[in-house]
Amino acid sequence: MKGRCYTVTGAGTGLGKATALLLARKGAFVVVAGLDRAAGEQTVAEIKAAGGEATYVQTDISKESDCARMVQAALDRYGRLDGAVNNAAAATIPEKMHLKSIAHWQQVIDVNLTGTFLCMKHQVVPMLAAGGGAIVNVSSVSGIRGYDVACDYGASKGGIISLSMHGAAEYGPMNIRVNALLPGPMPTPMLEEVAGKYQGVYDAAIAQTMLGRISETTEVAEAAAWLLSDAASYVTGASLSVDGGMSASAISRIS
Ligand SMILES: NC(=O)c1ccc[n+]([C@@H]2O[C@H](COP(=O)([O-])OP(=O)(O)OC[C@H]3O[C@@H](n4cnc5c(N)ncnc54)[C@H](O)[C@@H]3O)[C@@H](O)[C@H]2O)c1
Repeated sequence: MKGRCYTVTGAGTGLGKATALLLARKGAFVVVAGLDRAAGEQTVAEIKAAGGEATYVQTDISKESDCARMVQAALDRYGRLDGAVNNAAAATIPEKMHLKSIAHWQQVIDVNLTGTFLCMKHQVVPMLAAGGGAIVNVSSVSGIRGYDVACDYGASKGGIISLSMHGAAEYGPMNIRVNALLPGPMPTPMLEEVAGKYQGVYDAAIAQTMLGRISETTEVAEAAAWLLSDAASYVTGASLSVDGGMSASAISRIS
């Protein structure tokens, strides 16, 4: 990955940060994109302190102009865009379907699903010009399983799997690979937000995994980096679960 350039959205925290740090350690130039400037700049500072190279671009992925600016920043700063990890997402407000407001439904879909589409729309352009690339879209175990209070989030994550397969089909002949990554529970601000509303979320999550623990973000970042790498050169249109066996187990309650 040395000398290659990747955008990572939501790279100020959680899985995005772990992925940005890992890609930089592998020698890549990283465009750290996200809403939270302080967190994003902290990720850049940590990458630079470790001898890597990164730049922060304030990006709201639900705005097309921001997604275009993120891609342009990669081209302006590093002269190329080899791949992307579309990781940023909004959390659900855990409520049953009949209690959800249309405004909140729309916000989750706008960020998670439309935002991922907007990122891809702009990322593929330089990849088409360069003759190839690789995109990893972060979905979730909740994109393929039903939970009791997260229909908006789950629908957005299921949509990301579909978007990834369609992207893989559209751009495979142009040597652009697109895959979906489906993490299980990770100890990040997003899960903590849900855990703050429901006691026992961590215990329930652990109970649903086959390995009997939630993952470190670094374990999922490794899978993202592999999907971007040439080692995964024949992998496209895939949904890779990195969930400790959660999606293969039988229990599906989070509250
Ligand atoms: N934590 C889990 O248990 C879990 C499980 C499965 C999937 N995931 C997925 O992993 C990915 C990373 O989440 P995380 O767990 O690291 O949580 P997180 O809250 O640390 O990361 C989400 C990031 O997205 C950013 N973000 C939110 N809205 C944005 C917007 N409109 N534009 C740009 N950035 C925005 C946030 O600022 C944050 O940095 C998400 O796609 C999430 O759905 C998480």
